[in-house]
Amino acid sequence: MRHLLDTQTLARAEALRILDVAEDMADTQSREIKKLPTLRGKTVVNLFFEDSTRTRISFEAAAKRLSADVINFAAKGSSVSKGESLKDTAQTLEAMGADAVVIRHPASGAPRTLATSGWISAGVVNAGDGTHEHPTQALLDAFTIRKRRFGADSRGRDLTGIRIVIVGDVLHSRVARSNVWLLAALGAHVTLVTPPTLIPQDVSNWPVRVLYDLDEALAEDPDAVMMLRIQLERMHAAFFPSEREYSRRWGLDPVRLARLTGDSIVLHPGPMNRGLEISAEAADSPRSTVLEQVTNGVSVRMAVLYLLLAGERNEDEMGSPNA
Ligand code: CP
Repeated sequence: MRHLLDTQTLARAEALRILDVAEDMADTQSREIKKLPTLRGKTVVNLFFEDSTRTRISFEAAAKRLSADVINFAAKGSSVSKGESLKDTAQTLEAMGADAVVIRHPASGAPRTLATSGWISAGVVNAGDGTHEHPTQALLDAFTIRKRRFGADSRGRDLTGIRIVIVGDVLHSRVARSNVWLLAALGAHVTLVTPPTLIPQDVSNWPVRVLYDLDEALAEDPDAVMMLRIQLERMHAAFFPSEREYSRRWGLDPVRLARLTGDSIVLHPGPMNRGLEISAEAADSPRSTVLEQVTNGVSVRMAVLYLLLAGERNEDEMGSPNA
């Protein structure tokens, strides 16, 4: 794998490869092997032009657990405020020895530009670009769904037949886009539930069904319900009725939570707006996988960095995290 830019063009086999290597990484972590020597001598740069808690720290933890050196760059407080361009910033960091650049940027397409412009030769990982994609979030979500479903037998399995409902602000959600492409490629049935004002115009080209009524979707006993964060920072009044109205019609409140059946799980990428798209009861319930998602995110990002920086050379060592 040269770069990880999106899930729309990620081959199913490659996605399964990442999930299976992530299983190996998770095994090493559960056996309290805190550090693997795999990426010793490599440098990973976290290049963040937008705020992040989970993704940035998760990539940092993942790189360090593979013994890579990590350089953290936040646009706030950097020479970006003096007008330095993405090209000059990236080349400056590569001149300090970057082998991989993990980039979060407000502009959709910035990671692809970085990967294809010829400005740098490092591998590029998209950590969230505008409203476009957030591929490692989707991979960790798929990993979490698969793990809850198949447990120790997860390796090699896809999500054929699993019914997943994604609820909320799809229009502004890079998490939703990445999940739609990945989950569909893995064989899941995806239903989007959203206010009519928060659905993208091109949704008819997506491999999904769209509903506007959350109760109708929950009545079908989905295997997983993924609540999206309402992105108030990207919103203007025309999109959004009111927080109260939104919460009443599309929020996962205790009454809706109680209607979930069997082993149905509740996902949220975080950060959560408690009391808006998800109630505290739902966020903290045994069905919630919010903290599992965070834990799994480190394993998935270890797998991505491993395949990016060591995968080709060490093809016969792919299972080596378990060795
Ligand atoms: N899920 C996610 O991307 O969270 P952060 O914005 O905290 O990285």
